[in-house]
Amino acid sequence: MSLPHTPDVTIELAESNRRRAQDLWDREYEDAPTIPSSLRAAPAHALVELMRACEFPAARALDLGCGNGRNSLFLASLGIQVTALDFCPKAIALTRRRVEEAGLSGSVEVVNQDLLDGIPGGDETYDLVMDAYSLCHFTRDEDQRRVMSEVARVLKPGGYFIKIHVDSSDAYYLERLHTRTSYGHISFDPANGLKKMHCSLSTYTEQVAPKFTLVKAVNIVFPDDVRGKVYDRSIFACLMQNVKEVI
Ligand SMILES: C[S@@+](CC[C@H](N)C(=O)[O-])C[C@H]1O[C@@H](n2cnc3c(N)ncnc32)[C@H](O)[C@@H]1O
Repeated sequence: MSLPHTPDVTIELAESNRRRAQDLWDREYEDAPTIPSSLRAAPAHALVELMRACEFPAARALDLGCGNGRNSLFLASLGIQVTALDFCPKAIALTRRRVEEAGLSGSVEVVNQDLLDGIPGGDETYDLVMDAYSLCHFTRDEDQRRVMSEVARVLKPGGYFIKIHVDSSDAYYLERLHTRTSYGHISFDPANGLKKMHCSLSTYTEQVAPKFTLVKAVNIVFPDDVRGKVYDRSIFACLMQNVKEVI
């Protein structure tokens, strides 16, 4: 028996999930932010360190889930042509404003796109793709796989992928553990209604990004006061290379 209405129902559900996720992010950028990076102007510390330590040539870069644009602006300040991508209207507006204020409109293209619909652009477009705390919000295995295969598609052979991630030993998110998974766990933060996936660096490189080769990695552990309570925070950052077709 055919079910003629099933595709429409699936599309409607996907649309309502997308709007709900965009609303949560809009609130994060509009009201009191619960994620420290949401209003931070400085680029991610780990990104600055990785770019300093590895002097690799990058002419074109893609910033996945650019937020307020802080990392895109940093990459543009190094002379890199950047595509800053996000699906949250408030984040897009913040990034556009900051790019204009910095006089970098010629270096940063701001793109409003849901990564669940893929990455716009042709194959082998970018020398560098970066993800600072964004893809962790894809908590379904199939969504991670889909977006990682898009990352591999748009990266040039030999291109680089930078990943910055709150790992599975982070005390703040362990206190908010929602579901254990094969790679680590998913947290849920009632302060902003957002879920995040957490794993260790080794699990990430072996299970989530097996198509990439690890070049350099750092683990950063630091005490941090979150709304009046001190937690042992833990993140990893890594530089990986898309070597599949170079060999
Ligand atoms: C924690 S913020 C990180 C922002 C930025 N990378 C930084 O380090 O400041 C995560 C960002 O990912 C974006 N994001 C989440 N899901 C997305 C999706 N499906 N498509 C595009 N962007 C998404 C959110 O709107 C948000 O701006």
